[in-house]
Amino acid sequence: MKKILCLIIIFCSISCFSSGQTTATQPGVTQAPDILLPLSTENTELIYKVSGRDGKLVQVYLGPRLSSVSALNQLRDAGHPAYATFGTDNLFEPAIRMTHNDGNPSLELKYVSHVTETADNNITITKIMLRDPAYPVEVTLTIKTYKAEDVVEQWVEIVQKEAKPLTIYNYASSMLHFDADKYWLSQFHGDWAEEMKMQESELTSGIKILDTKLGTRAHMYQTPVFFLSLNEKSDETSGELIAGTLGWSGNFRFLFEIDEKNSLRVISGINPFASEYTIQPGKVFKTPSFIFTYSNQGKGLASRNLHHWATKYGILDGNGPRMMLLNNWETTYFNFDEPKLTGLLDDTKKMGLDVFLLDDGWFANKYPRENDRAGLGDWQENKTKLPNGLGYLVKEADKRGVKFGIWIEPEMVNPKSELYETHPDWVLKLPNRPEHYYRNQLVLDLTNPKVQEFVYNTVNDMLTNNPGIAFIKWDCNRMMTNAYSVFLKDKQSHLYVDYVNSLYGVLDRLRQKYPKLPVMLCSGGGGRVDYGSLKYFTDFWASDNTDPLERVYIQWGYSYFFPSISVCNHITSWGKQTLKFKTDVAMMGKMGYDIPVNELTEKELKFSQDVIANYKRLSDVIWHGDLYRIASPYEGNRAVLMYVNSAKNKAVLFAYTLNSRYGEAFNRVRLQGLDPVKTYKVQEINQSNEGRAPGGTANPRSYTGDYLMKIGIAVGSASPLTSAVYEITE
Ligand code: DGJ
Repeated sequence: MKKILCLIIIFCSISCFSSGQTTATQPGVTQAPDILLPLSTENTELIYKVSGRDGKLVQVYLGPRLSSVSALNQLRDAGHPAYATFGTDNLFEPAIRMTHNDGNPSLELKYVSHVTETADNNITITKIMLRDPAYPVEVTLTIKTYKAEDVVEQWVEIVQKEAKPLTIYNYASSMLHFDADKYWLSQFHGDWAEEMKMQESELTSGIKILDTKLGTRAHMYQTPVFFLSLNEKSDETSGELIAGTLGWSGNFRFLFEIDEKNSLRVISGINPFASEYTIQPGKVFKTPSFIFTYSNQGKGLASRNLHHWATKYGILDGNGPRMMLLNNWETTYFNFDEPKLTGLLDDTKKMGLDVFLLDDGWFANKYPRENDRAGLGDWQENKTKLPNGLGYLVKEADKRGVKFGIWIEPEMVNPKSELYETHPDWVLKLPNRPEHYYRNQLVLDLTNPKVQEFVYNTVNDMLTNNPGIAFIKWDCNRMMTNAYSVFLKDKQSHLYVDYVNSLYGVLDRLRQKYPKLPVMLCSGGGGRVDYGSLKYFTDFWASDNTDPLERVYIQWGYSYFFPSISVCNHITSWGKQTLKFKTDVAMMGKMGYDIPVNELTEKELKFSQDVIANYKRLSDVIWHGDLYRIASPYEGNRAVLMYVNSAKNKAVLFAYTLNSRYGEAFNRVRLQGLDPVKTYKVQEINQSNEGRAPGGTANPRSYTGDYLMKIGIAVGSASPLTSAVYEITE
């Protein structure tokens, strides 16, 4: 149910309120006044103007909040099109392009009205309706502002009232304009096991595109996030920028175009590639949301804005509790049976963890899931491995006072499966061509309602038959090739869009029934990480690469856009570093384990138990505190970051030395976000003799916040692959 506390509706049709400018066009003819539409958050402002001259909607401002909007009357620029169309006067990339049912390929959009709803004292939703004067097509731009978080969400609805179907070719969620001397773009790309590698470059005249065409596991090569810095490169604490992201789990596109006047337009939305969409008369096409925040204090503030927004609005139960996992993927792969699993339940308890997560390999009988070549799609417990079923494991977990969780990959199928044998038409595959496999599997055709039902029932049956299941890891291991749906018939270009909307439909249904069940979003590592899916998921698996050295960079990358509570970091056997280093790296997010606990020495076990207790004590600060990135691994041989709670009486600081050159000096670091007048005790925690760095602050010492932030302290050591964690308490 929509929780709208108070609803104030301001409805305004053209000429309802004006900026005060009234200009004469021809002698004796007075044109309508301009209308200014300021959309503000606490510190920022996006302002549109309806031009009285021609009724067009233009963007006139995006930046820090103005003390008076009327100052814009002095602005002599005409402004930039709020949502540029194609076919009339626009000479650059359009936000929208369509062909009307009579074949006319042009669109003109004029302001009709706008309405503002105040959902509560933080959220305001403004809908601006535009219409083509010659055709019955309406385009509504929606701008949702989150005041306290300084975040703006934008999406578009295209309402088709023509008598016959019309086709849209471009249908962006947002179009924003900037006028700066220079533009710097930070993008985040990668591959399996090397997610979120940051690259920054200056934009030059013409078009730069960040996109994906993978359909599913869509973000394997590019994550749908960016920073755009204006005039100069921004750093953590200074510089003007926006941080943007698209809430869409499929093909996305961010297009940056600099025109002949050095103005930049940024068009964000679903990738229009191979995705022209036919809208039937009377239907509405709704785009996903583009989410952005503006900061004039560098990337640090932009990240904190997004984190605050995400925990409150972007991630399922973002302020709720989280459980610490023991996963068995790295420990056993497909090779396990009931006794081994009950042993792992014992280990979960012994470590002080909350839930045991059984990964891939527990299902299928005719074609048992012994490896990734068979069984996917047959979601019945394998009778040899689990003769007593999942219910038995749930009970065994319960006996030990821990919870039980389970892995599934319900969108996919191995051709060697009963599901494929029974429903060969349920997979995406091209006519007249051999099937193309990736990880020996195919994508199920989720656009088909029967497949949607199958996916829903797979999850629902598992949960109703085994009521104690307390956690799910939802995987999706391949991208879309064979991109053809038997179900869609002559609407093949709808596939990429319909797939994602169908997935959301299934997830919506599941969430109605299981509103808070924690579910980890996984896609062969971090192949699907976006705020479209995170509405349904409590956290995500960042990467299969758990080597802690690599992980520092991967987690650093995610930290720009996603709060630490959502980033699952497991301590595994990857990497030759010490258990302490692995643990300290995992601890900067949602920490969990995937190691053979029975192989830990007594000391290692004790160390881990102590750290888990530390983590449980500090997780609230790590998950909900303000993040300050202090030393970037992209700029030097160490990474230092800290989280500070809102009362500024508790903080946790992580310092990782990744490498060091001969004689390299690691200077004191100045802390951030503390209260200068408070006195803090700084205590190193997670100490271990194994690989412990000399020179750390082993004993607690007291400093004022002022000292810590202006003079700073030495943290960690110069020895490569060492780390230190500090608990900072008022
Ligand atoms: C890919 C995931 O990223 C892994 O963590 C694991 O769950 C495997 N799939 C299982 O097949």
